[in-house]
Amino acid sequence: MSDQTLHSLVEEMTLNEKIAQLMQLAAPFFEGSKEQGEITGPMAEMGVTKETVRNSGSVLGASGAKEVREIQEAHLKTNRLGIPLLIMADIVHGFQTIFPVPLAIGCSWDIKLAEKSAEIAAAEASVAGVHVTFAPMVDLVRDPRWGRVMESTGEDPYLNSEFARAFVRGFQGDDLTSDTSRVAACVKHFAAYGAGEGGRDYNTVDMSERQLREMYLPAYKAALDEGSEMVMTAFNTVDGIPASGNKRLMRGLLREEWGFDGVLISDWSAVKELIPHSVAVNEKEAAAKALTAGVDIEMMTLCYVNHLKELIENREVSEDLLDEAVLRILGLKKKLGLFENPHRGTDEQREQEVIMSEPHRAVARELAAKSCVLLKNENVLPLQSGQKVALIGPFAQNGDILGPWSWKGSREAAIQLYDGLKERLAPDRLSVSKGCSIETGTEEELQQALETAAHADIVVLALGENSDMSGEAGSRSDIRLPEIQHELLSALKKIGKPIVTVLFNGRPLDLRDVTEQSDAILEAWFPGTEGGHAVAELLLGKVNPSGRLSMSFPHSVGQVPVYYNCFNTGRPQGAPDAQERYVSQYLDVPNEALYPFGFGLSYTSFSYGEPVLSSNVLKPGEAIQLSITVANTGDRDGDETVQLYVRDMAGEVVRPLKELKAFEKVALVAGEKKEIIFTLKEEQLRYHHSDLTLASDPGAYTAYVGPCSSNVKEVTFSLVK
Ligand code: BGC
Repeated sequence: MSDQTLHSLVEEMTLNEKIAQLMQLAAPFFEGSKEQGEITGPMAEMGVTKETVRNSGSVLGASGAKEVREIQEAHLKTNRLGIPLLIMADIVHGFQTIFPVPLAIGCSWDIKLAEKSAEIAAAEASVAGVHVTFAPMVDLVRDPRWGRVMESTGEDPYLNSEFARAFVRGFQGDDLTSDTSRVAACVKHFAAYGAGEGGRDYNTVDMSERQLREMYLPAYKAALDEGSEMVMTAFNTVDGIPASGNKRLMRGLLREEWGFDGVLISDWSAVKELIPHSVAVNEKEAAAKALTAGVDIEMMTLCYVNHLKELIENREVSEDLLDEAVLRILGLKKKLGLFENPHRGTDEQREQEVIMSEPHRAVARELAAKSCVLLKNENVLPLQSGQKVALIGPFAQNGDILGPWSWKGSREAAIQLYDGLKERLAPDRLSVSKGCSIETGTEEELQQALETAAHADIVVLALGENSDMSGEAGSRSDIRLPEIQHELLSALKKIGKPIVTVLFNGRPLDLRDVTEQSDAILEAWFPGTEGGHAVAELLLGKVNPSGRLSMSFPHSVGQVPVYYNCFNTGRPQGAPDAQERYVSQYLDVPNEALYPFGFGLSYTSFSYGEPVLSSNVLKPGEAIQLSITVANTGDRDGDETVQLYVRDMAGEVVRPLKELKAFEKVALVAGEKKEIIFTLKEEQLRYHHSDLTLASDPGAYTAYVGPCSSNVKEVTFSLVK
């Protein structure tokens, strides 16, 4: 089908048919879905008629080869022009084979494996009929109170951008038309949804444009540079205007400046939410504002369907805007090959073979192991052979380890920690006891746990948050573990056995007490379907931990936001001439994170030589090399993540203390050394100046190399222009 044919198709469409292409409703509205498209109750009250559904353009949340085929077939029978439906769904970190949550994937620093996970998610989703995934979510995050930090890869714009690209490549592959095992990506939530005030979901975002461009926009841009077909708007305001009605953001920045010509979809009901945001008095005004601002598809509300016709007929909104949006939507259908092959990719038999296949689970297991971060280890891990292990805690036998965005994942199919350990330990070496539930507990449960611990050599204590405690609408003002779990830990501590705490959760927590009372801590996040296997292999030393934090863990919630790439201030703590009191600090907690960005331990040790620069003068158009020798000085093989940071010592505007510019994951066998070479160019030193132009400053820079943002060796150079 040519572009010309698409234009002719749009010309043939009635106003109602065109408008309905811009509507997205959930699967139950559609005939052929399990709910059989019964339009009753609230749906009828919303103003949905059979005719609107017949003309509609896309479906939210349908999957399963059989159901999707039936929905598409029923639709094509009644749609006058035979325009197929687009099937969209949230395939965020796996379809049925669930990978670790994205924040955990961020901690793997493994870009290739992240791409592979998206490719597998696409393969499983597409065989089940999905065409578009609402992913990747690339909102930069600094506030662990926000429950959705688990959907992001973390606090750094460079690392987030690398992952954004990897996810888009994995989802989309090279050619969506011929490769039906891929799905179109929809990067979200545009823009700066991660910066809601106070970490409260859906809350106001207000920041300088410089900060927006510098920190928050790069990952969306990276996803678009990689070819993401769609963008989803955010719920929040950006500079006083809700993102979903923000013309400057969508038509200005996204379309004109960045040249994005794909489909822009609102988040769930975000068009109608222009009313409570108080920028529209009613649905009609909301529809006019959203379309004018650039939203093509309205998700789950009906402002467009109920009001665009009148708005266009009264010439309050130009029909050209509607036609453009329709063309973009039809263009995506064409690219996905849906006009020729409306059942693209769906196959009931292959569905059985592909979904949750052994190779997919193997990747999930590998990625889960690489995503866990060893935060503390006082010589108790790995577990020693012969040791008797008491596995205790609400996550000892709990399948709620998939995370809040694992729509199609099955908790029953998830490998629990107990299952993982049981496969590898003789029965007399493993005992188990719950101790308490996530938020409540009984004296009897506690006593049983103490009894179990008393008969063992070491306690593995599996604590955490259930999946409802993070994710969307999962903000918390207290980011400690629930009190009952602290009580369990304290009671076990009194027995005097070493305690290895394994955490299953979706956000950086306040771990001060856990740190004090545990001999080792392994942050396992929500590790996904293969979680129990991965964590067991790490605990037993079959796999050496290699995860590094991609988001800082604060000492306390009062310190939030705490992130590594912050500014120095005019009165930094610890400066040679600093006064004791009148410096930027808290009186009761340190300024730095408890566990900073880039941090993570291994069962082996690494040593770093001195960084050496090929020249200490860098000129535009040229490059300098920074080399450093990294050695595995322990007696186990291990992976080290060598991190390169840069600081502009005197910028036109204030520059962060450190900015990640490059990193390399290097596998070193025990005793092995390698020289790591990074290349530095002038382009990497550019940033948004006060007039928002991208430029670098001539002058002094410091480069830092090391295993973590807070543990680095430095070398200086100058940029000479
Ligand atoms: C979320 C989006 C998601 C959409 C569709 C919204 O509530 O904010 O991230 O893609 O629902 O499920």
